[in-house]
Amino acid sequence: MIRSIVLHILMISLGSQAVADVPISQVLSHIDIATGKSKDVATAFPIQGVVSARSILSDGMVLAYVQPPGAAGVPVLAEATEATGLIPRNEVRLTGSFSPTVLGFDALRVKKASVALIATNKSFGASEPRSAAFFKDASSLAGRYVSLTNVQFVAGKVPGNGRAQVTADGITVNLLVTATLSKREIPNGPVNVFGVPVRLDGGWGLLAARFLPVSGKQAQVLASKHTCFTCHNPDVKAIGPAYRDVAARYKDDPEAVGKLISQMERGGTGKWGAIPMPPLGAKVPIEDRKALAEWIMGYKWDAILAE
Ligand code: HEC
Repeated sequence: MIRSIVLHILMISLGSQAVADVPISQVLSHIDIATGKSKDVATAFPIQGVVSARSILSDGMVLAYVQPPGAAGVPVLAEATEATGLIPRNEVRLTGSFSPTVLGFDALRVKKASVALIATNKSFGASEPRSAAFFKDASSLAGRYVSLTNVQFVAGKVPGNGRAQVTADGITVNLLVTATLSKREIPNGPVNVFGVPVRLDGGWGLLAARFLPVSGKQAQVLASKHTCFTCHNPDVKAIGPAYRDVAARYKDDPEAVGKLISQMERGGTGKWGAIPMPPLGAKVPIEDRKALAEWIMGYKWDAILAE
C-alpha cells in the first residue's frame, strides 16, 4: 500500500515521462478487427512510432496512423490544433485512449498536449504493392503501409467528406484523402497511391498518404543519368534541396513546371541557400527537363495531403 502511494507520488512528480511506452502491437490487441471497435476505452496508452498517413476528417478531427517501422500501426485521433506534429515521417510519442471516430471505428484519442516530436524524416517500412481486388477484405493488412499502383482517379473534385475513388482493372477502391482536398483538383493522370488500409463505408478503403506519378521509375533513371542525384535526394536535403521540399514550396504555383525547367537549363542560386546549381541545359535535353520537372512536382501531393 505504502509502496503504491510512493510510486504514485513519484509518477506525479515525474509527469508522463515516467510512464513507459506500450508496444503498438499490444495496443492493437484491444481492437476487434471485425468491427474496428476497442474493448478497452478506459486505459490511457503511451505509444511511440512513426506517422505513416494523416487525414482531416469531415468533422475537422485529424486521423493519423502511428506505426513501428514495417509493422501495423495504430489509428490516432486528434484535434487539429493538437495534430501539427502528426505529419507523415515524423516520429512521435503521445498518450491516448480509445474513442469513436466519425468513420465508425475507434482510434486512440490523443490526450491534450501529449504529442512530443522525437524526430523528422523517419522511414516507416516498405510499402507492399496490392491489387485493387485486395481491398474487398484488407483486414490482414489493416494499419500497414501498402501501395496501389497505376490507378486512375474517378474524375471530379473530392467532396467535403474527404472521400475519393480510384479505379484499377475495372475495380473501384474507396480512398480516404482529406477534407481539405475538396478545394483542389485531384491528380488527372495515372498514379501510384500509398497509404494504410482502413475500414470505410462498411468495407475496406485506403487512407492515402502519397500520390506519386507512375513514371517515377523512368524519371529516377533520367535523374541518375543526368547526375541530379549527386546533389539531390527526393526525400531529404543534400547539397541541393529535397524534391519533396521543392514541390511543397511550389504546390500552388501554376508556373512551377516552367520554373523548374528553367532552373535545370540556366542553373540558379539563392532560393535554397548560398550553394549554386550549375546550368545543365547543354547536357539535359528539353524533353528530359520537362519529364524531370513534372516528376518533381508530383511530390506536391505529400504537402497537400499533410495540410
Ligand atoms: C552540383 C550540384 C547539383 C546538381 C548536379 C543538380 N542540382 Fe539542382 N540544385 C542544386 C542546388 C545547390 C540547388 C539550390 C539552388 C538555389 O538555392 O537556388 C538546386 C536547386 C534545384 C531545384 C529547385 C529550383 C527552384 O526553382 O527552387 C530543382 C528543381 C533542381 N535543383 C533540380 C535538379 C535536377 C532535375 C537536376 C539534374 C538534371 C539537378 N537539379 C542537378 C544543386 C545541384
